[in-house]
Amino acid sequence: ESAAVSVTIQADKPGAKIDRNLYGQFAEHLGHGIYEGIWVGEDSSIPNTRGYRNDVVAALKKLKVPVVRWPGGCFADEYHWREGIGPRDKRPVKVNTHWGAVEEPNTFGTHEFLDFAELIGADAYVSGNVGSGSPQEMAEWVEYITSDTKSTLAELRRKNGREKPWKLPYFGVGNETWGCGGNMRPEYFADLYKQFATFIKAPRDNTPLKIASGANVADYHWTEVMLSQAAKHMDAYSLHYYTFPGRWENKGASTGFTEDAWASTLNHAVRMEELVTKHSAIMDKYDPDKKVALYVDEWGTWYDPEPGRNPGFLYQQNTLRDALVASLTLDIFHRHADRVKMSNIAQMVNVLQAMILTDKEKMTLTPTYHVFEMYIPFQGATSLPAEVQSPTYSRGEWSLPQVSVSAARDVNGKLQIAFTNVDPNKGASVSAKINGANVKSASGRILTASALDARNTFDKPEAVKPAPFKASKKGNELRVELPPKSVVVVAVE
Ligand code: AHR
Repeated sequence: ESAAVSVTIQADKPGAKIDRNLYGQFAEHLGHGIYEGIWVGEDSSIPNTRGYRNDVVAALKKLKVPVVRWPGGCFADEYHWREGIGPRDKRPVKVNTHWGAVEEPNTFGTHEFLDFAELIGADAYVSGNVGSGSPQEMAEWVEYITSDTKSTLAELRRKNGREKPWKLPYFGVGNETWGCGGNMRPEYFADLYKQFATFIKAPRDNTPLKIASGANVADYHWTEVMLSQAAKHMDAYSLHYYTFPGRWENKGASTGFTEDAWASTLNHAVRMEELVTKHSAIMDKYDPDKKVALYVDEWGTWYDPEPGRNPGFLYQQNTLRDALVASLTLDIFHRHADRVKMSNIAQMVNVLQAMILTDKEKMTLTPTYHVFEMYIPFQGATSLPAEVQSPTYSRGEWSLPQVSVSAARDVNGKLQIAFTNVDPNKGASVSAKINGANVKSASGRILTASALDARNTFDKPEAVKPAPFKASKKGNELRVELPPKSVVVVAVE
């Protein structure tokens, strides 16, 4: 059984550029996100380059990760950068009080992060400590990274092995300052933001864009206060939104879930549309010229911890359901490409909606990784309006459009179209009319599987992976047969 869906794409009405940073990632000192996931150390038996896992680095390079945010998250407001420089065996061992109360050896610090970003070809987004740090500590961190003078801090960086400054394109001032970053009121943080941001100074050609810690979910008051008080002092403003099928206290399992949980999860994921629209409307009020970008610098699924694992490590399985959360969310960001200029999925390796899972020497790519990889042609592309007439997929109290579509002209001039069918039982027969382009054929790849919670494991790492896909042509329309629960990306010839 298939539902009829009609789509009109306006190839002759180009919209905003899809910033490649919408495909950004987030890597926090949390569980095995950094240690074991990215960093194993030079003496490890796991093949590595200067301490970074070769398998993970190769997979991330293939993904063309544009930007990585580090060191947190909540960890950022407990992090003191001076503890993570100099000889590794001399660095203090701290307690990661926010995540599992485990030892934080500080072996992965400023040099290790910025070298890692260079190694995978990504830009660095460093999050500074407002909650338990000072403007001076923050300003000196920026100087240590960016100064090309003979200042004592620049010389210390050289002594520690880095002659030239690193590029520092993005710097975050605080994280979740309404919560783990200090439990502040927006009025208080707006002032504090301006104070801290004032002292971030760097050479003219290496001055980072400053990102203000922003709202949680639908806290529009936070956005109202921050933008009205501090818009002039920020380059970007952040938003955090996580998707879970249940409630915060009881989020639901990452595998073995029901169709209700499937529907609830996807329904919650598309709430991103409303959140981005409403926060953007407030930003439009105070920043009509769109000088301040909206960065959704934490998003993704968050489920209950897996039984038997440290609940503070936020390790969860990643299934076909997560792949659809990713494609639906990326489609939303494409539609808001005029305001949303960066997103950082939480998180890169072994934490929450990860791209990659590792277990000692083993590694597997997740279904979410495959969506990010299939969507690479959208990085830097020009979005095109797509009007979709789709029936609704409903299950119990949840409902959302059955088919989501994204269209864009890629950097090579090719038309790229992504389709997601969220219905796990029903296919969709899509007729796509493309105004302003001649359609000869379209081909690409599909990601689907038979089970709702289909996943890749260390023993079966390729259970869910993209397969070739062809669309047919009828008259001047493209015909795309979407199986139930599938994501398709095609390039139009
Ligand atoms: O990504 C996990 C945590 O979620 C981050 O540390 C924090 O910013 C958010 O609450």
